[in-house]
Amino acid sequence: MTRIALIPGDGIGPEVVEVARAALEAAAAAEGVDLAFETFHFSADHYLETGETLPDVAFERLRDGFDAILLGALGDPRVPGNEHARDVLLGLRFRLDLYVNLRPVRLLHPRLCPLATRPDGVERAIDIEIFRENTEGAYVGLGGNFKKGTPEEVAINEDLNTYRGVKRILKAAFEHAVENGRHRVTMSDKANAMEHAGGLWRRTFEEVGAEYPDVERESLYVDMLAMDLLRRPERYRVIVTGNLFGDILTDIGAIVSGSMGLAPSGNINVDGEYPSMFEPVHGSAPDLAGSGTANLMAAVLTAALLAERTGAPAVAGRLEEAVRAALAAGISTPDVGGAGSTAEVGDWIVRRAGERS
Ligand code: NAD
Ligand code: IPM
Ligand code: MN
Repeated sequence: MTRIALIPGDGIGPEVVEVARAALEAAAAAEGVDLAFETFHFSADHYLETGETLPDVAFERLRDGFDAILLGALGDPRVPGNEHARDVLLGLRFRLDLYVNLRPVRLLHPRLCPLATRPDGVERAIDIEIFRENTEGAYVGLGGNFKKGTPEEVAINEDLNTYRGVKRILKAAFEHAVENGRHRVTMSDKANAMEHAGGLWRRTFEEVGAEYPDVERESLYVDMLAMDLLRRPERYRVIVTGNLFGDILTDIGAIVSGSMGLAPSGNINVDGEYPSMFEPVHGSAPDLAGSGTANLMAAVLTAALLAERTGAPAVAGRLEEAVRAALAAGISTPDVGGAGSTAEVGDWIVRRAGERS
């Protein structure tokens, strides 16, 4: 029995999580896999009603009572300070020590992206795994304001990098490369401007990489890599980078794969001590919420990552196949050129995921 906690969250989160849950259930039933779901309604609504973000008792239940967490998105214009998202989303990443944020970038159909074909007509195979450090960097909340609201205001957000933290994300990236036959790991930083953190990343990259002599390694400045992901995305196999650069590169990755609505993500507890948390790369998309047009495929592919990581690769295979089949049949939402609604495309995918083979 795999116990899955659902946190639908805000905006389009509940719309896409509902489809992901139904697709997981259908695929699991077809494979004879037992799943149990429980929903946690932490969201902007809940915060505005109660003042509560993520209470400790709920955190402890999520930590101790589940094998995985599936989250939609958190973020709402009515909470401009983003307090609830910080406590729930970043809180879970930090407190469960989910130090690997794995964000695959896969072009599932050439129609989806103008970069699919090179200027000379050759098709590109785009298949990248981005390893984003998820527990340090600019996200740790160290810093503050001095003379806030005055003309002399000072604002500081520290970028924290530890040898232990850098080493473990680099190791995870190399291990993944070796296990999956990926021949190159690209590390990205901004060592030419931020020499202290960059130096630590570069030295540790050499140290860790030396243990994997069959994997080619290269370091690229993040501005160059942002450009090159659009110039020749087919070149990259595994990218490893810090928290903030990883956030930015994975939005670029999402659009290289065709849409924000296609990009899955997993916050992985590598040592298996705590549950991992899975969420699409996209946010709550307030501009789409309630329109019935949000692309649910990122959430379904996220559920596939969850299934794969909780020991149900056949369930994952069904979910991914259902998304591929829908795209091939032109059954999709407007962001990827279709005319379907979230509900219509969702129903098709759920049915397909549960078909007897
Ligand atoms: P966003 O990802 O929500 O939206 C960016 C753009 O992509 C918008 O044009 C949106 O319409 C489009 N888009 C996103 N998801 C889509 C989908 N499934 N189908 C079709 N189009 C889609 O980013 P944003 O506007 O910067 O953020 C909105 C809120 O979400 C903010 O509060 C932000 O902090 C939050 N956020 C949360 C998460 C998360 O919880 N994991 C991730 C990113 C952003
Ligand atoms: C993401 C989001 C979050 C992040 C925000 C909502 C804090 O953009 O998951 O990519 O920056 O990690
Ligand atoms: Mn982001």
